[in-house]
Amino acid sequence: MKARLEKKEKAGVKPEYFIEVEESDFKTEKIGEVEEYAEPGKFHDFFEPLGPRSLEIIEQDCELMSACETRPYPMVVDRAKGSVVTDLDGREYIDFVAGIAVLNAGHSNPAVSAAISAQLEKMTHCCSADFFAEPPLKLARKLRELSGYSKIFYCNSGTEAVEAAIKLAFWKTKRPALIGFYNSFHGRTLGSLSLTSSKVRQKEHFPGIRTVHTHYAYCYRCPLNLEYPGCGAECARELENLVFRRELSPEDTAAVVVEPIQGEGGYIVPPPEFHREIKRICTDHDILLIADEVQAGCFRTGPFLAMENFGVRPDISCLAKALGAGLPLGAMLADRELMDWPPGVHSNTFGGNLLASAGSLAALEFLEKEKLGERAKVLGSRIQARLREVQESYPCIGDVRGLGLMIGAEIVKPDKSIDPGLRDRIVREGYKEGIMLLGCGDSVIRFSPPLVMTDEEAELGMEKFEEALKKVVR
Ligand SMILES: Cc1ncc(COP(=O)(O)O)c(C=O)c1O
Repeated sequence: MKARLEKKEKAGVKPEYFIEVEESDFKTEKIGEVEEYAEPGKFHDFFEPLGPRSLEIIEQDCELMSACETRPYPMVVDRAKGSVVTDLDGREYIDFVAGIAVLNAGHSNPAVSAAISAQLEKMTHCCSADFFAEPPLKLARKLRELSGYSKIFYCNSGTEAVEAAIKLAFWKTKRPALIGFYNSFHGRTLGSLSLTSSKVRQKEHFPGIRTVHTHYAYCYRCPLNLEYPGCGAECARELENLVFRRELSPEDTAAVVVEPIQGEGGYIVPPPEFHREIKRICTDHDILLIADEVQAGCFRTGPFLAMENFGVRPDISCLAKALGAGLPLGAMLADRELMDWPPGVHSNTFGGNLLASAGSLAALEFLEKEKLGERAKVLGSRIQARLREVQESYPCIGDVRGLGLMIGAEIVKPDKSIDPGLRDRIVREGYKEGIMLLGCGDSVIRFSPPLVMTDEEAELGMEKFEEALKKVVR
């Protein structure tokens, strides 16, 4: 949704609001526009949950903010606790987004807030690149204990963690190119965007660094038209069978960069053989394997690092999102022998910020103490089972998949082709019903709640999801 709000007033008549909707990435389907923009009555109805304070904020946002952000529905948040978010007009929503897999320890977690407040009293920032300090070190010790990697580099976001990994790979191997995967998302700065292969709009007029993309194991829509397990993860071998023969010499390849589970690409879970085969190929050709754990990491799928689910240990792992528990923090992890670059090669101002480090350590300790990785697996299985039940009445749910609390429901037409228009309508209807959902991939609804979500909240959320389906699917 493009952020342009239009208020149409007529004397004596309640004003009507329009949000200009953008053309979908799928040119045949103008999401929302046909039935909502063209019919003001219906569109007005879309604003029903919106109170006057929210409307005021949206108006100001439309006036002041860059229009490059996409908003799926007009929600104005105000406060949150655990897995429930309250909007500016006091309406509550069950949160299946968690700030995009950020609030793993829950909104307003008391332990995290206390740690940040205590640090706030002492000092907020020192530039850890220039001076020594205790909070980033304590966190580094915890990260080493949880991940097994011996060296940590801090930054502020996912894209920066990926940039740091790319830079280390180039520096170490002195090779000029990278390999990424179709549907992947690694960020929007120059290096990470070269790897990203999600939506072409994100890369319009962008030159990039040398990167070759290959197939990810998207079993619901196998790129090779094969079937698992008979396929033996043949898609992974495309690297050797195709890429290394036609496009890029392994001798020129610094690193293969892969998400353990594709996030923005559609919550796609590959079979374990896929990651093992990629690792085998990297080892055979002395290529570094970089795991982008930005969305899947920090216990969301069960173990601390999602790659542990596949029994693969990459050379470098990137973290962000949940690592900062709501404050900006990213990290690149590798072993001493690899991260042996000298002073001055790479750095930044805010990485390892004192507040973010204190909050992060408290969040990780909380997640560990409460065994929320294990809880993510249990609740994740329940939500998947519940979605499969719903699927029986709604065949537009073509596929339900996930690991832990990283779950996707793919919305399809009767012939199994993607249905992004219907997906978006379900997501918006969910908002009206009181659940926060977000799409991902071409036609997928993601469920990535805080790991503290209770069974009751999850069930209520599923009931609301079913209600949204009932209203939208005819
Ligand atoms: C797997 C993955 N990597 C990198 C990023 C980029 O993170 P950031 O938005 O913090 O730069 C994202 C963001 O969604 C992501 O999902």
